[in-house]
Amino acid sequence: MITLGVMIQENVSLKPYNTFGVEASTKFFAEATSLGELEEILAWYREQNDCPLLVLGGGSNLLFTRDWKGLVLKVSLTGCRVEGDMAIAAAGEDWHSFVLWTLEKKIFGLENLSLIPGQVGTAPMQNIGAYGVEIKDVFESLKAININSGKTKIFSLDECEFGYRESVFKHKEKGNWIITEVSFKLSKTPQVKVEYGTIKTTLEAHNIKNPTPQQVGQAVTAIRESKLPNPNDLGSAGSFFKNPVVAAELLQKIKTDYPEVPHYKVADKQFKLPAGWLIDQSGWKGHTRDNHGVHKHQALVLVNYGGATGEDILTLAKDIQQSVAKKFDIILKPEVNII
Ligand code: EPU
Repeated sequence: MITLGVMIQENVSLKPYNTFGVEASTKFFAEATSLGELEEILAWYREQNDCPLLVLGGGSNLLFTRDWKGLVLKVSLTGCRVEGDMAIAAAGEDWHSFVLWTLEKKIFGLENLSLIPGQVGTAPMQNIGAYGVEIKDVFESLKAININSGKTKIFSLDECEFGYRESVFKHKEKGNWIITEVSFKLSKTPQVKVEYGTIKTTLEAHNIKNPTPQQVGQAVTAIRESKLPNPNDLGSAGSFFKNPVVAAELLQKIKTDYPEVPHYKVADKQFKLPAGWLIDQSGWKGHTRDNHGVHKHQALVLVNYGGATGEDILTLAKDIQQSVAKKFDIILKPEVNII
């Protein structure tokens, strides 16, 4: 153990730090619970040679297929506040607890994003989204520390370059910043969004005509609980693949055999198809291989029943990719960060 003001631990298991629950270890591990600790850890990191850095939030969107030969830095900064119609949270806050907190404070707009695993600071990395809302719709700005210089910068909405499960932090700014705080522009007046089919039907089933944001949040929670595994009970990282966008001609071809194929127009002659449907139609839903498999209620989710390695899960993912490519001529791209 190397003792600094904060601890840098050596040879630490990452199993408790990834929601897939796969075994992997890291050479160095440190957890920052304050900005001071974060600065101290980064100062230590800058003095190392050949020590790659992996910044970890909730570990809910990654798959370890090997050990990490450098430093894993877990961001555990906490604290939330409301300023006018803005809700501001530190990067280490649990996402769903933050959503519930905003509802308690009667500041609305995050309810459709209830029960998404992970932390506030990693939400903008991939512009999390569900049930008709994405982070970018309610995002004001974020604060980040430059890993090399230690300087703080505020990123505006435009500077984050958000796209479908994309941001500047996955592309040209990859590996440069640690997000420390995120601000959301919310509303004190409820403006619920219930157009997403499953929300509508869930509310109707409960005879709710003019839902409050809390009721929308509860409906989303119920839908997610019915379809998606709780990472505390069953290892997973949510959707494993992104929903692909295909050209109108390919959609037309698929429609010949599958007139019911779900699709959403995203641009002229460009349609998004649900990867879950493609995987389901390829016969994978509920497929089990010893200790891992495809979730029985949502084919887009791969699960670890306990003891599977990252490589096992990656092999399954590749087999699914091949089978969907063969059947539909579509190459699925992982949504999960594979390490
Ligand atoms: N479908 C099937 N079989 C399946 C799964 C889905 O036929 O096994 C069909 C459904 O019937 C539906 C369509 O595919 O017609 C879409 O399914 P769903 O509404 O469950 O959403 P999704 O496209 O599979 C996306 C996000 C989820 C998010 C939901 C709700 C991606 C990659 N995934 O899933 O996000 O919760 O919409 O908005 O965009 C995540 O990113 O980890 C995640 C869970």
